[in-house]
Amino acid sequence: MASARVMQRVRTVSALRRAMAPWRSQALRIGFVPTMGAIHDGHLSLVRRARRTCDRVVASLFVNPLQFGPTEDFARYPRPIHEDRAKFAGAGVDLLWEPAIAGIYPAGDRTRVHVSGLTDAFEGAARPGHFEGVTTVVLRLLNAVQPDELWLGQKDAQQAMVIERMVADLLLPVRVRRGATVRMRDGLALSSRNAYLGAGERAQAVALSLGLRAARAHLVAGERSAARIAAAVRGVWRRHPLVHEDYVAVVDAATMAPLRTVRGRVLVAVAARVGPARLIDNFEWSGR
Ligand code: PAF
Repeated sequence: MASARVMQRVRTVSALRRAMAPWRSQALRIGFVPTMGAIHDGHLSLVRRARRTCDRVVASLFVNPLQFGPTEDFARYPRPIHEDRAKFAGAGVDLLWEPAIAGIYPAGDRTRVHVSGLTDAFEGAARPGHFEGVTTVVLRLLNAVQPDELWLGQKDAQQAMVIERMVADLLLPVRVRRGATVRMRDGLALSSRNAYLGAGERAQAVALSLGLRAARAHLVAGERSAARIAAAVRGVWRRHPLVHEDYVAVVDAATMAPLRTVRGRVLVAVAARVGPARLIDNFEWSGR
């Protein structure tokens, strides 16, 4: 019978390093899943995937103030800490790191990480400063954990791309891996922000994935005009009046460059406001 693992919890970087020292001395492969909590099956699927490829899994739980704009939802971001801990433990996290804000941003902190170009459009345009907050915190988390693998969700495709760029540019010794988006039965992508939706809004939020499904059907049928693929998404959204478009992007999946004509690996990414929630979703397509 396999022995049950007990999840350790630490707060400081020094406690994190102490807890990981025996694993390092045994050269165990370490997987890392950074999160802001409000844990759902999307996060847990990353933990499970990391468990399959690594010997130990570290998760972090840190609602990063730097990646929220002044009018965004930092204060009301859901923080169900006890449920989160239980979910992490149940999914097989070995070590949960819950840093304090001062542990990540020490007094006098002046350093920011900016990935240019890739961060200008789409999420970057809608949320000025957001990606600088993400890359700044992720670099700090990586420096503390020093994992072999970093697991990120495909739902935040632009975030994954920006972090992959940072990791490559700064020669960080970590393999970035993406886990597939996990969805509700009707197709709605799991997101911590789904918790903001009222019943009517929840019913219409499915329009994001329905719109993407329509876009995919057009691609499969041979459509190559980015404008007509985007129009397929908007056609679905017109039937869902609570869904307000932020963007519908048909872009190169490696560079986020907007396309007129689809070729190679393409990312169709969407963002919309549904009631108090701003939701995103996407899919990648490479001609199959
Ligand atoms: O995707 C998230 O939850 C956050 O942006 C991340 C990567 C944990 C950084 O705070």
